Amino acid sequence: MTDTADIPLTVALEDLRIDGLRLIERLENLARLGGIDLQGRPVPDGVVPAGSSRLAATQADGRGRDLVVGWMRDLGLQIRIDEVGNVTGTRPAADGSTDHPVMTGSHIDTVATGGKYDGNLGVLSALEVIATLDEHRIATRRPITVGFFTNEEGARFQPDMMGSLVYAGGLPPSVARAAKDLAGMALGDELTAIGYLGEAPAPGPAPHAFVELHIEQGPVLERDGAVVGAVTGVQGISWTEVRIAGQGNHAGTTPMGSRRDAGLAAARLAVFLDDLARRSPSNQVATVGQVELFPNLVNVIPGRARLTVDLRNIDNAALIAAEQAFRAYVEELAQTYGLEIALANLVRFDPVDFDARVIGLVERTATRLGHPVTRIASGAGHDAQMLARVAPTAMIFTTSHGGISHDPAEWTKPEDLVAAADTLLHVVLELSEGDHLAV
Ligand code: GLV
Ligand code: MN
Ligand code: MN
Repeated sequence: MTDTADIPLTVALEDLRIDGLRLIERLENLARLGGIDLQGRPVPDGVVPAGSSRLAATQADGRGRDLVVGWMRDLGLQIRIDEVGNVTGTRPAADGSTDHPVMTGSHIDTVATGGKYDGNLGVLSALEVIATLDEHRIATRRPITVGFFTNEEGARFQPDMMGSLVYAGGLPPSVARAAKDLAGMALGDELTAIGYLGEAPAPGPAPHAFVELHIEQGPVLERDGAVVGAVTGVQGISWTEVRIAGQGNHAGTTPMGSRRDAGLAAARLAVFLDDLARRSPSNQVATVGQVELFPNLVNVIPGRARLTVDLRNIDNAALIAAEQAFRAYVEELAQTYGLEIALANLVRFDPVDFDARVIGLVERTATRLGHPVTRIASGAGHDAQMLARVAPTAMIFTTSHGGISHDPAEWTKPEDLVAAADTLLHVVLELSEGDHLAV
């Protein structure tokens, strides 16, 4: 930093490495907040959890935020909390400026059955970047900002990537704060309850560049023997809530031909979408992740059903075709079984291509550090896809053992976590020093 810039470097710049043990220890400490076992049950304090349950703006999320903000303060970062609860911490440049920083970060909210690394790895590795530079008294030409965004997961409030979408100017903060969960609680009130409804305005300042480290959450890197992924983009995402209204009735007395069975329609729709994705020549994926039947009793034909549909594709035209086929089938179901079916769009994001210069930098950096690297498209949604609207952006992936994520069984070899964090360190350092983004 400015006052120590004249002290000689203790290691050559290319030999800088993050503190892997500290990174793992921080990941473990954060995972304890909302800690769960492999079955998704809360674990008592003191028991090492398999994963975490920190849905956005819950008390557990608040405790996670407090821990990470404490670490940011310990590193002397200038903290900014905005009006949808996004948190950034900035390390000024050598000249004291905080404008146009290189920004890195991710999220610390989880799905209800989350692992230890989804999101958290990117945030805590970003802290490692800062700590490493501090320890070696390295001042940078550009400031560096570490951030975590509110409600990336979208498991409680929709849309997902909500905080980063607001940060990038894609959603008014008031609309985000008004988003309600299934219990009718508004995000803004819940952020207030945990002390994270800040005052800094959103959208936030556009960074010089954004880079996010994340686990792959899929099987490709491990299968291909790569440790680092240079992420080329993110596939399009379409989420729909389906509400089906039929007629509840007696399971024993109602002839099969007279039923208006909302549960059967939900099941048929799930099977239709699975077939649609499997038959698709593109890499279409389709998931029915939530199904609720009413009244949900052994001897009652379900009169109502609620389910969610998640469709994704890297090819937007193919995604649109899948959405059309889904809607046509819903109409067919309604007619065949005499049902009323209402669709509500929850999320619709087009596929995103990342910046070729930042992708290339990730690839070259991993290679230089000796980590096998491959280019890969992201199947999961990420905050980086929103920051790509306002800054040159790319992501760094590392492996997910067995391709498992959004489950407490999510796991990555510690050496891969560290290799990816080292790659982040050198990518951020390059972006903060050089002119990689000059046209
Ligand atoms: C976010 O984690 C998503 O891809 O659903
Ligand atoms: Mn994530
Ligand atoms: Mn996730």
